[in-house]
Amino acid sequence: MQIIKDAQQARAFRAACTRAGQKLGFVPTMGALHEAHLALAKQSQRDNEATLVSIFVNPTQFNNPEDLEKYPRRVESDLEGLEKAGVDAVYLPSVDDIYGQQVESEPLDLAGLDRGMEGTYRPGHFPGVATVIKRFFEILQPDRAYFGEKDYQQLRVVQHVTQQHQLGVEVIGCETVRTAQGLAMSSRNYRLSKQGWQDALIIPRALEWARQNHALHAPPRLKEGVKNFFTESPLNLEYVEIADAETMRPLQHWTAVAHARIFLAAFCEGVRLIDNQKLF
Ligand code: PAF
Repeated sequence: MQIIKDAQQARAFRAACTRAGQKLGFVPTMGALHEAHLALAKQSQRDNEATLVSIFVNPTQFNNPEDLEKYPRRVESDLEGLEKAGVDAVYLPSVDDIYGQQVESEPLDLAGLDRGMEGTYRPGHFPGVATVIKRFFEILQPDRAYFGEKDYQQLRVVQHVTQQHQLGVEVIGCETVRTAQGLAMSSRNYRLSKQGWQDALIIPRALEWARQNHALHAPPRLKEGVKNFFTESPLNLEYVEIADAETMRPLQHWTAVAHARIFLAAFCEGVRLIDNQKLF
């Protein structure tokens, strides 16, 4: 497994793939890897001859300095896992390599996809994500890139920026990987106590209830039903929203909607967890 430290080496790796006639699959991560990341890498390995994983805790997407500081970092064990998984290369850029002297987001047009939900509660988050992904795509020029649907709004933002700037990357969304009990895999789960892991199961339960009952209720009633799950729970629900899966616009009714999803964020033991579920 090749360890790539800067953009120059990354470009050389891309060029070598091209010379060898290999398609390159790219899995961007912020490290603290778990099964869901490895599932993205596996999908990339199925689709492409070469797979590169990046590990970079992107400062511009954190609106809260404490969150950035607390973000789990375990590069050594990440590298071991990736080696074992047989990925071809890992790119570990420095902040300077990606941003130079200006550690800030580009003013990208995100077509309103960043307006609600995570965009509302984490101002500046999506411009930061869009900027770092655009830079990665420009450096690596991968054929395909893989993103988990747990961060569905992120996936839509990345798809949009890729199209808008004609970056020539096929952006592939992969189903959320869950524990046997249903909790969406997240690096943040590692900050939960044993009890926290149990308490957090209310999230997938509430979302599954919504999936099963959406035909019976209009979106505002369905949201109320989800909120009720949290009244007796130690979790603090931050938001629950039902949105058009293409535009991310909140829905008041189901008419003329092709695909809808339900999204929520909740705090469990002070750890902010997000999840979402396809309704139809
Ligand atoms: O989902 C993440 O881990 C990050 O937002 C990403 C896509 C790696 C960009 O920093």
